[in-house]
Amino acid sequence: MSDSTTGSSLQDFKADEPAGLDVARMQHALAGGRFGKPLHYFREIGSTNSHARELAEAGAAEGTVVVAESQSQGRGRLGRRWESPAFKNLYLSILLRPKLLPAHAAQITLMAAVALADAVNAYAPGQATIKWPNDILIGKKKLAGILSEASCDAERVHYVILGVGINLNYAADAMPEEIRRRATSLLEVTSKPVHRESFLQGLLRGIERCYGELEQAGFAALAPRWQSYFAWRGQRVRVELLDQTTIGTAKGIDRDGALVLVDDHGIEQRVLAGDVIPLES
Ligand code: BTN
Repeated sequence: MSDSTTGSSLQDFKADEPAGLDVARMQHALAGGRFGKPLHYFREIGSTNSHARELAEAGAAEGTVVVAESQSQGRGRLGRRWESPAFKNLYLSILLRPKLLPAHAAQITLMAAVALADAVNAYAPGQATIKWPNDILIGKKKLAGILSEASCDAERVHYVILGVGINLNYAADAMPEEIRRRATSLLEVTSKPVHRESFLQGLLRGIERCYGELEQAGFAALAPRWQSYFAWRGQRVRVELLDQTTIGTAKGIDRDGALVLVDDHGIEQRVLAGDVIPLES
């Protein structure tokens, strides 16, 4: 693992390897904003979230970004693995130090889902939807995911590591069989390769903007946009968490980001975590 915050330590790239992201150019493009100062870049890492957490514990500033070309231990929600092949996709983590109550920390994930859906729509207009709480889908297949990991005490959030993985130039025939059944990439959807640096810049600017709105006006300002991307509004769904299952018709989210379901007795149920599975297509 070699950290390049300047772009000058790319010597460990072999001549026959594909070109990585240009760190210096990205830093220049991000200079006027809040994110990416510093920007830690790795050709390979265990997990960008784990590294960002170490930086956070060591006192790194809000806006620190960790980007890697590949991850050997990429993590998804609920202990799943995140497939992270080199030079095809984006894997990044942003360190945030939001002034939020711990009960509202999940709003960071929802805020990022809006920015991520916006970024995807710039390449595949009108096609991105959000599967609560944090998957970006195109059609029925997953294109991107968010893993937010927070450090809190009873009163406040110390920091949130906002981890994002997006399948950009990941050809279906290069995906393991079991991933191919559930996942897609922008290349598959649009048949056009994506310039990863441009996507990353647009995404970081978008998250910065949405984060600013969350800070200024609270999640209520972003909720209608989240709802407009919500994949399964009005559909009967099952939500599974450990050994608990909730079934009902999905209504949307409330101000805290909980999924609101109307159960078979007409009673509203709030669900704070779990996997949502549609019961009809
Ligand atoms: C999910 O959908 O389950 C969340 C996937 C999040 C993957 C990203 S890739 C960058 C960051 N580092 C990780 O180890 N995971 C997140």
